[in-house]
Amino acid sequence: MALQLNPPPASSSAASSCKFCDRVEKLFEHKLLTRGVLQRKECGPRFRLKVSSMQPPNAVSLETEGSAVQYLTSDGKSIGSQDLKSEITVMGSSKTDVTLSIIVVGASGELARSKIFPALFALFYEDHLTKDFTIFGYGRTVMSDDDLRSSISENLGCRVGNRGSCEDKMNQFLERCFYCTGQYSSEEHFLELDEKLKEKEVGMLSNRLYYLAVPPHLFVDAVRCSKRRASSNSGWTRVIVEKPFGQDLESSRKLTRDLNQYLKEDQIFRINHHLGEELFDNLLALRFSNLVFEALWSRNYVRNVQLIFSEDISTEGQGRGYEDYGVIRDVMQNHLIHLLALFAMETPVSLDAEDIRNEKVKVLRSISPPRLEDVVIGQHKGYREGNMLCRAFTDGPTVSEGSLTPTYAAATFFINNARWDGVPFMVIAGKGLHSKRAEIRVQFRHVPGNLYGRNAGADLWNATNELVLRVQPDEAIYLRINNKVPGLGKRLDRSNLNLLFGTRYPKEVPDAYERLLLDAIKGERRLFIRNDELEASWSIFTPLLKALKARKVQPELYPFGSEGPVGVHYLAAKYNILCSDFDEH
Ligand code: BG6
Repeated sequence: MALQLNPPPASSSAASSCKFCDRVEKLFEHKLLTRGVLQRKECGPRFRLKVSSMQPPNAVSLETEGSAVQYLTSDGKSIGSQDLKSEITVMGSSKTDVTLSIIVVGASGELARSKIFPALFALFYEDHLTKDFTIFGYGRTVMSDDDLRSSISENLGCRVGNRGSCEDKMNQFLERCFYCTGQYSSEEHFLELDEKLKEKEVGMLSNRLYYLAVPPHLFVDAVRCSKRRASSNSGWTRVIVEKPFGQDLESSRKLTRDLNQYLKEDQIFRINHHLGEELFDNLLALRFSNLVFEALWSRNYVRNVQLIFSEDISTEGQGRGYEDYGVIRDVMQNHLIHLLALFAMETPVSLDAEDIRNEKVKVLRSISPPRLEDVVIGQHKGYREGNMLCRAFTDGPTVSEGSLTPTYAAATFFINNARWDGVPFMVIAGKGLHSKRAEIRVQFRHVPGNLYGRNAGADLWNATNELVLRVQPDEAIYLRINNKVPGLGKRLDRSNLNLLFGTRYPKEVPDAYERLLLDAIKGERRLFIRNDELEASWSIFTPLLKALKARKVQPELYPFGSEGPVGVHYLAAKYNILCSDFDEH
């Protein structure tokens, strides 16, 4: 489909240019072009229309200057021009072949090998990748294409149930994977990458997705080189960056400023992989498609909310960086506070990314930094049972003696808005605990009047309703209710209305990275962190981190494999929060 527009004459006046802008806008109104973002930079003899987030050539900008129309890539490079004497043609997407190149920078690292390549394979296996795609690994390690293939093939797996075609599919996938050796700061090496990419993309419009699976101090170099030497000049170029995004507000701002020298905000996809978990994605559906939940979602009915992220491992595989980082940055600031925002936000205008992120950022801006007395930090000790020995955090090879880095933190936050005023949100994250668990627990207020007080057979103070969204282990949503024990008495019992995903939906739930990679390919930004969200979340944690450092707060030691520091129970008691029962299902 080609959409034809008559351009303004070469000697166009501001008014006729504006009309032209208006006509292109009409294409969106009439849904001839969909899913684009149209920006009118200025209306006058010189104007620019920018259409982004779409498949090329819809991702190009059109710019008139004098009598020529220039086709520009989304980052501003000219890729040709057309005489205005005839007409401007805005193409639809069906006629042109489009290829997708995915470049995994840091391809020999653990993240790439264990998460990114397997997720890409799963997308290919489920036919979610476009017909023409190429994957390039890029890294300093000297490797051949075959070396890369054998290194990633170890971690590829097929969905249960479809095993038959597994090997064929793996081979087909691996044939599309290539490798390019290069330094992250070498424009020359990125130029070589560009040449290799072009060989595969020849004759087609190319979109390029970079995944920076490298430590953050390499981000800016890699982005500079890829932008200057290896970005697409016919389609879009997007870059996924994985946290950490700075150490505090100042360093995070600097990183954003540095990245923005080479990338526009809509090219940056900041990944928080937990936001790609099925259950968190389901949170919006649960709230906004069920009258019962949304009606209860406020200070009028909710007594407290807990966000819990507990891990039964220590910091294995996280390298030297963890000691400077600690659990507050690693999990609370990067993950949990964004889930809290998603949980607590107002109804967005639509499900579009910007509408959702606008609501999230309002929540983040309404949260005050927690006071030190509302925070408990801990660090795990070692543990020995028989032949089994679990090391203390400070015994780790890269940890300094006497390190104050927390491996556990619990903090109570308040959202200063009309919906949540006075409701404590207790956020808990810890390593070296007795179970791997990720969940949100919403405890509701008590039933007024206590009609069943004497006959309860259960402590009604403890028996409030509770909604649990469990991400790990075994995704589930369940509501704890009070129920009469069948029989002639009046005794009450606690029971669960239970939606266990594994039973209801036996199909395997996709990994978070699959969802997020596919979203980045489609230009869907809903689950990625926008710059202002990042800034707002650092504003919450930076004062706390500074205070902990300045006062050299000692973490409470807890044994590896335990429930964490005892201090958390005092914090919970201060806000009437019932620490949940870990073992229930
Ligand atoms: C990462 C944290 O983001 O998430 C790690 O940096 C943590 O500290 C990991 O171990 C847990 O992820 P998952 O997917 O295993 O729950």
